[in-house]
Amino acid sequence: MPRTTITDLQKRKADGKKITMLTAYDFPFAALVDQAGIDMILVGDSLGVVVQGRENTLPVTMDEMVYHTEMVVRASRNAFVVGDMPFMSYQASREEAVFNAGRFLKESGAQSVKLEGGAAVRATIEAISAADIPVMAHIGLTPQSVHKMGGFKVQKEMDRLLQDARSVEEAGAFSVVLECVPGDIAKRITEEINIPTIGIGAGVDCDGQVLVLHDLLGLFDRFVPKFIKRYAQLSETALAALQQYKEEVEKGEFPGAEHTFR
Ligand code: KIV
Repeated sequence: MPRTTITDLQKRKADGKKITMLTAYDFPFAALVDQAGIDMILVGDSLGVVVQGRENTLPVTMDEMVYHTEMVVRASRNAFVVGDMPFMSYQASREEAVFNAGRFLKESGAQSVKLEGGAAVRATIEAISAADIPVMAHIGLTPQSVHKMGGFKVQKEMDRLLQDARSVEEAGAFSVVLECVPGDIAKRITEEINIPTIGIGAGVDCDGQVLVLHDLLGLFDRFVPKFIKRYAQLSETALAALQQYKEEVEKGEFPGAEHTFR
């Protein structure tokens, strides 16, 4: 099976077939996500929180994103890989935005980039798209704006959200993430624009869905927003394994004869 392309994603919307996307940040998990047949892997700057243990995504750097994205690309054969542009990698100037977007394709081998913002980043999306780098937009709750928004809040202003969605489509984005947007507004946006909408906390009517892998697998429990569904409890399984190892070493039960060279 060849790697998913933006043409395939566009066709999914036209055919009414749902698109699946998950985050991944390293080789073993990206390989599993790819093996599961997920259409897109987002190397999200959420790694700042779920991998690095930070309070928010703001400290994540370009070098860190390039490093993680490269591992994910190496592990994946079929999924379309999206590198997430970290805070201050695209805000200061259009030139810097294009240069940094280019690093994801040139140094990591990603197929596209994602950046946060709607009408306000229209010119930036235009500039990156003009360099033939596919851009996924991200509107609604944009975590890099946490201080401006006054916290992580559901975004309910229908007119502004519609304007943001139209702006990013006109600027050339190939898809848009809708984060923490009421289901009826996400449905309206999905009907009004021609590019696929990928929802997270935006109801069932988006063209596709994305979740943070560590949330889905039960590997992160510092906070669990309403929109998350836990499909596994890997932290519990991992903890039990680690405790058993400790006990067996302490009792002299591991390594056994079968683990010992003769
Ligand atoms: O960084 C990330 O993982 C994201 C998703 C939550 C969409 O932006």
